[in-house]
Amino acid sequence: MKKFLCLFLLSQFMMSWSQTQSAGSDLNNSLGEEELYRPNFHFTPEQNWMNDPNGMFFYEGQYHLFFQHYPDGNTWGPMHWGHATSENLLDWDEKPIAIYPDELGYIFSGSAVVDLENTSGLAEDGETPIIAMFTYHDAEAEKNGSTTFQSQAIAYSLDQGQTWKKYDGNPVIKNPGIRDFRDPKIQWDELNEQWIMVLAAQDKSLFYTSKNLTDWELAFEFGNKIGAHGGVWECPDFFPIQVKDSNETKWVLIQSLNPGAYNGGSGTQYFVGDFDGKNFTPVADQKNLEANHTYWLDFGKDNYAGVTWANTNMKEDHKLFIGWMSNWQYAEKVPTTKWRSSMTFPRELTLVKKEDSSYRLFSEPANQIDKISKQKRQESKIKSAENTLLLADDSKFEMDKLRVKLKVTISGNKRYTFNLSNDQGDSLVFGFHSADNTFFIDRSKSGKINFSEKFAEKISTAPRTSDDDLLEVEILLDKTSIELFYDEGETVMTEIFFPNSPMTQLELITSEDNFTIEDLNIYQLELN
Ligand code: FRU
Repeated sequence: MKKFLCLFLLSQFMMSWSQTQSAGSDLNNSLGEEELYRPNFHFTPEQNWMNDPNGMFFYEGQYHLFFQHYPDGNTWGPMHWGHATSENLLDWDEKPIAIYPDELGYIFSGSAVVDLENTSGLAEDGETPIIAMFTYHDAEAEKNGSTTFQSQAIAYSLDQGQTWKKYDGNPVIKNPGIRDFRDPKIQWDELNEQWIMVLAAQDKSLFYTSKNLTDWELAFEFGNKIGAHGGVWECPDFFPIQVKDSNETKWVLIQSLNPGAYNGGSGTQYFVGDFDGKNFTPVADQKNLEANHTYWLDFGKDNYAGVTWANTNMKEDHKLFIGWMSNWQYAEKVPTTKWRSSMTFPRELTLVKKEDSSYRLFSEPANQIDKISKQKRQESKIKSAENTLLLADDSKFEMDKLRVKLKVTISGNKRYTFNLSNDQGDSLVFGFHSADNTFFIDRSKSGKINFSEKFAEKISTAPRTSDDDLLEVEILLDKTSIELFYDEGETVMTEIFFPNSPMTQLELITSEDNFTIEDLNIYQLELN
């Protein structure tokens, strides 16, 4: 017989909800989509459309985030680079648009670097230019049947990223005859004293090198018969990272593709290997990576086109990452009006060498979240009994800015099902089935789902690659998103959802007798 273990039941919150509820259908109007759905601690543009994160760099105490933005509408349109800055990765200050489209085209995705040595010569001696590289997308040429409408160009800033000037010699890389030719990401290669840029070219990544950021030479290409190819490759990233707890350094290629992700639509795979200044060679067990491989940065449906920050002062074994929290299958249809789309919470990536010698990219929430995580509950060795109510009725948790960490000893053939719900009958169900060693998220009853048949078409799954008996789960909950970090971030699932009223309750249901939660921590995120 199933035992039900209620992790927490937020009845007081529910009570206050049902009081407001008596206002009937006016409630949704008075609460409004804006208040119901705009995230508490995830970046969204003040107004209108956003997709990929672009050009992130850290300089003089500021994290810069640029993004694909259509400022005049709430669906994709002529692309600009929007801009926001933050000192703590939590409070974002949206700035004026950084780069506008012009006669060469829309401003598609790209990256930025801090040119500390002024290798570009674009600043006066002794000054530090910031160099952004982006794709020009000539929509007119595309309409007229051209296939060479995408090229790479440069803009630079001489005031720490606040204002941008386009380079006179644009485009710096002309289209070589490839229809999808975009999303340049630049990285400094310390060992070979050169800049490396990787871009996506249909079904492969192309690597270029440069000494001055304006003259680029094609070094090699990667992607033939390796990895997932169910769609066009987009938004790559390529960087060195020290393997956790070792002196070894590997290079990681992050490669988004759309469609063709593990759970359909847009998603991001990664490759690990060695780089000799010219060629990238994947490690032995990745050499023949098949289409259905398990090297995905995130298995959920809503983390796309993510790349890493340049010039952070992080240790060599960490990279700071952010992704677009949506999926091209339905991004333009999600039920928000004033703004559309948000970013994931920024994440720290680390590379772990496992006992079987495989390398896995782990993601965890950026440590800045610790500063606002107010511990509300800590308990160890929680034993279950049927219908045990573990959290007193008077708890005052706000479920839309919550962080939960727990450790559970798992055993075979059991289900561990979390149910996030409200009193309107909406429920988001996620967890782990040990019988088939699979994590899952089911949002088919999570609220508004009918805006796209793709949104809740299938239950998303992720294979567990850790074989530890102890399952560690970290949950980040906002109004319209859940980010699940399992096994310290070895397997991640990120998905969005749109409940009819705020979620008020989270319970853990298990089919196991004598079930124990080894450790439980619940934090309320305290935002400014
Ligand atoms: C990925 C993408 C990029 C492109 C941008 C256009 O989501 O398609 O390849 O540069 O969006 O907005």
